[in-house]
Amino acid sequence: MQWQTPICLLSGHTGFAEELGNIPFFPATSIGAIVLKATTLEPREGHPAERVCETPLGLMNAVGLENPGVEAVIENKLASLPNLSISKQNPDIQWIVNVAGFTVHEYAMVIERIEKSPYQSYVSAYEINISCPNVKKGGAVFGHDEVLAAEVISECRKKTTKPLIIKLSPNQTDIANMAEVCINNGADILSAINTVAAMHIDTHRQKTYLSAGRGGLSGRAVLPIALLNVYLIWQVANSYNIPIIGQGGISNGDDAISMLLAGASAIGIGSALARDIRVSKKIIKSIEKYCQTHGFSHYSEITGKLSL
Ligand SMILES: Cc1cc2nc3c(=O)[nH]c(=O)nc-3n(C[C@H](O)[C@H](O)[C@H](O)COP(=O)(O)O)c2cc1C
Repeated sequence: MQWQTPICLLSGHTGFAEELGNIPFFPATSIGAIVLKATTLEPREGHPAERVCETPLGLMNAVGLENPGVEAVIENKLASLPNLSISKQNPDIQWIVNVAGFTVHEYAMVIERIEKSPYQSYVSAYEINISCPNVKKGGAVFGHDEVLAAEVISECRKKTTKPLIIKLSPNQTDIANMAEVCINNGADILSAINTVAAMHIDTHRQKTYLSAGRGGLSGRAVLPIALLNVYLIWQVANSYNIPIIGQGGISNGDDAISMLLAGASAIGIGSALARDIRVSKKIIKSIEKYCQTHGFSHYSEITGKLSL
């Protein structure tokens, strides 16, 4: 990963990054990459409200992949990436398109449309969100089924030479095996974890807080789950030299260092931005201090240094 720093902002947390550069003192130079909001072939309105709620230790969401569809994303979002104020503050930020779909064809077409657009060079990589249900296979989640995952990755692979980042779901029995399937079918990088399936209930209304009934849990509560999953993936990914973008519940420097120790090469931040939009700078400082204290000359030397 050719990023200026090991920090990336995660999909769904900063939209298409249009507002970021207007936030006073936003630490733009602490960001290595930004993953844009999910893009699907057709526009999607997403689920009705409520789509996001707080839990005692994190956020829950069931946004339903709201986005204007790939054509509008190309014309109205990707086209203006170099002109965003955040890009002026840090022209080295790498832009990653998060791709979602409900059939294999949809995933592949999103990439094809972007690759054929005049703005394809603004995109450094595609992150494939395989946590979507396949409508043609009775709603089976792509990322929970080896055959479906292999199919979607190999079709995406045919559409681009840019790095493919495959985002893995923790809601499956053997994430390490799935990581290997992804690598064998064309993944260049893995990212983990996506949100954890969960439910939150409003006892007064006797209803779930989210309109969709269930949703994905992110934020502090999921950090220990994320660490174990990244550690399990690392056992496989390391032998193929495939880097991992570790994410899930990271909200300070110590969390980030834990993630590197578990096997991540880069750190994703999402829910923590809601509490502290400038947290990335603090994390970078903590990592630098940790390197000095523990005799590492570069943060990359921390990756996988966990001993059991
Ligand atoms: C409101 C919201 C929207 C999200 N949208 C997406 C999305 O469009 N695509 C995706 O792959 N992940 C999406 N995610 C998952 C995040 O990218 C990230 O994997 C997750 O929040 C875990 O990291 P965190 O604990 O640091 O927030 C979303 C999460 C939240 C809370």
